[in-house]
Amino acid sequence: MSNPVIRPRRLRTTPALRRLASEIRVHPAELVLPMFVREGNEVMPIQSMPGVVQHSVDSARRAVVAAAEAGIGGVMLFGVPDVRDATGTGATDPNGILNVATRALVDEIGDALVVQTDLCLDEFTDHGHCGVLATDGRVDNDATLLRYSDMAVAQASSGSALLGLSGMMDGQVAAVRSSLDAAGFEDTAVLAYSAKYASAYYGPFREAVASTLVGNRRTYQLDPANRREGVRETQIDIDEGADIVMVKPAGSYLDVLAEVAAMSPVPVWAYQVSGEYAMIEAAAAQGWIDRRRAVEESILSIRRAGADAVLTYWAVELANWLNEERA
Ligand code: PBG
Repeated sequence: MSNPVIRPRRLRTTPALRRLASEIRVHPAELVLPMFVREGNEVMPIQSMPGVVQHSVDSARRAVVAAAEAGIGGVMLFGVPDVRDATGTGATDPNGILNVATRALVDEIGDALVVQTDLCLDEFTDHGHCGVLATDGRVDNDATLLRYSDMAVAQASSGSALLGLSGMMDGQVAAVRSSLDAAGFEDTAVLAYSAKYASAYYGPFREAVASTLVGNRRTYQLDPANRREGVRETQIDIDEGADIVMVKPAGSYLDVLAEVAAMSPVPVWAYQVSGEYAMIEAAAAQGWIDRRRAVEESILSIRRAGADAVLTYWAVELANWLNEERA
């Protein structure tokens, strides 16, 4: 037996060599922090997401300053209203919590990062679905598009620069694009949650937005078995004018992400969702995994699979670690 001539271990010999040979790295500017903003002055912890809170508008102002100081690329806002109804009136009300919070954060932070908003009805409806219901109880696609169109104009008027369309209704990108353009918001961008799966990993999010969903979302979100369909949904959103497309959740859908990254002419983002956060936090709290290494590895893997940017609840903490390392 002869000694090996080819020795890939050579490039792993020292920390300096490993750093130089690293194929990708994560930068704070490509991280986006999802934030929950509730009505009233109280800041409420979210039990299933230790370290994440429902902000008041004031605490959200302070958090967005810290986020900008950490150098992250943006925040994605979710509203937690006190009152909900069948059509999600609060979503289109200029005084609804999401629109109020958007104006406050844009006022606070200006252009230091991108203030983005979740465009979906589930936070605002009493039944918890992402759209309005027909008389037979099904989610009415086309009636929902009308609500999304109005919601888009309300959010753009509040100063949101990038609208996150997370409802998985057919035709939502085209509907929102045309209503934005008609209202003079040609420069307001659309982030399409294109390959969004009906996932168990959204569990803690329900607590985060205090939503009481009746039923499930399987008539509009994708079957976790379907990779091809995720790519098709992405193509449709690109054709309808999406500026950015997204795969969600991230960790269990890296194959979909890689395929979308290979075909997409527009930026591809991924959302590391509440359940992905909760799993690492829970295991780390038990001492079963190294928290920081697991967080870093999970986000690095999402970048490696092809995401240009990542929505993650660790955005600011990770950015601060990266800043420390460079200092
Ligand atoms: C819909 C929306 C959801 C999430 C983001 N936008 C919930 C859902 O589709 O059920 C989940 C995000 C997370 O779990 O972190 N407005």
